[in-house]
Amino acid sequence: MNLSLQSAQQLVADLQASLDGAHCKVIIAPPACYLGSLIDACGEHISLAAQNCHDKQEGAYTGEVSAMMLESMGVAYCLVGHSERREYFCEGNAWLAEKINALIAKGIHPIYCFGEQLDERKSNRHFEVVEQQIREGLFHLADADFSNVILAYEPVWAIGTGETATSEQAQEMHAFIRNLVQKQYGQAMADRTTILYGGSCKPSNAEELFAQPDVDGGLIGGAALQASDFIQIIRSNG
Ligand code: PGA
Repeated sequence: MNLSLQSAQQLVADLQASLDGAHCKVIIAPPACYLGSLIDACGEHISLAAQNCHDKQEGAYTGEVSAMMLESMGVAYCLVGHSERREYFCEGNAWLAEKINALIAKGIHPIYCFGEQLDERKSNRHFEVVEQQIREGLFHLADADFSNVILAYEPVWAIGTGETATSEQAQEMHAFIRNLVQKQYGQAMADRTTILYGGSCKPSNAEELFAQPDVDGGLIGGAALQASDFIQIIRSNG
């Protein structure tokens, strides 16, 4: 919940002007109320994501946005299960699985976010927590549907705190996640699944994080609000 419409438009224009020659895929996730105003500005280099959607396609759910509505606007991606949605809006894995289904039914790629709290890492339960979030949110999907999902590991203690997971911590968890995917869907699926890291990713640490073999890119929060920082992070990923 950042930036006025005018600032968001300026940010997209600045990004658009700097992305020629960048090889990595860039998806921006503005607030839902700005999606319609930004869609034309995104052009060839940038795709759009919503930050959330409801699990029903339409009906009496005042204030909500559905996958059907996003699809009708041409939005190709949607975050599901960001830690702030889980924490402040009580979105649990079972509900998130329904949102994933709603998006897939409309041909929108879910970007499924998950990650452990600080106390869960301190008590060495981080692998167990992440496994449960992935199993309950995603592993009901058939192969063809799972292949449309992007995974985003975001340790909650690193989001917006300035405290980043070390590249070793990120790689260890990402390898664990890829192994879970391999056991459920096979090696080919594990190899082509995109697993992003999120949590205080910034120009000074992006290159090292993205250099890890199982870290395929980043989910950038605060640092994406400044075009120059975001562009530097994008260029760290090729
Ligand atoms: P951050 O946020 O990069 O500011 O830590 C990440 C996120 O909101 O997913």
